[in-house]
Amino acid sequence: MRVVVLASGSGTTLQAILDDPELGAQVVAAGTDVPGCAAMTRAEAAGVPTFAVALRDYPDRAVWNAELAAAIAKHDPDLVVLAGFMRLLAPSVVTRFRIVNTHPALLPAFPGAHAIRDALAADASSTGVTVHWVDEGVDTGPVIAQQAVPIEPGDDEGSLRARIQAVEKPLYVATLRRLCQEMN
Ligand code: GAR
Repeated sequence: MRVVVLASGSGTTLQAILDDPELGAQVVAAGTDVPGCAAMTRAEAAGVPTFAVALRDYPDRAVWNAELAAAIAKHDPDLVVLAGFMRLLAPSVVTRFRIVNTHPALLPAFPGAHAIRDALAADASSTGVTVHWVDEGVDTGPVIAQQAVPIEPGDDEGSLRARIQAVEKPLYVATLRRLCQEMN
């Protein structure tokens, strides 16, 4: 099993994947839309090849999507794993690869880039984590695994993010293990 991970941020999710000795797959590359982000530094430290395809370097999203797809395809992945990759992928990309994502909410509640902030703003009493296949919509693909996380009185974005991510990492890694086993 060959896995390419895409990430845009601090890369703690990527790190959890890299640190799992029983993933049952090789992380053959890590890619980003944010050159120099901490996630790529983590990949490099683990000896994983990296690539960056920044939107600002291309005339439009269609060309960017095509470049990103070409960069992913070079590594011939069986599975593409989104780990805090914060850009929407074009239909041409999501239909070309099998792509899995983790989202910090119980979808279909709170899709989009600000799921944690949105759950707090809605005064929800709980939220959670969803691992799902990526389709052409915004966080609309088939759900693979979910886990609820309570929202405590006095929570802010930081405290809720920490509680969500404490659940998210083991859920994502366990789900990826299962997918890798099933796909092998
Ligand atoms: C994760 O919590 C992930 O669920 C979220 O970004 C975080 C990445 O953290 N993804 C999304 O919100 C996608 N819509 P990290 O950079 O520390 O791995």
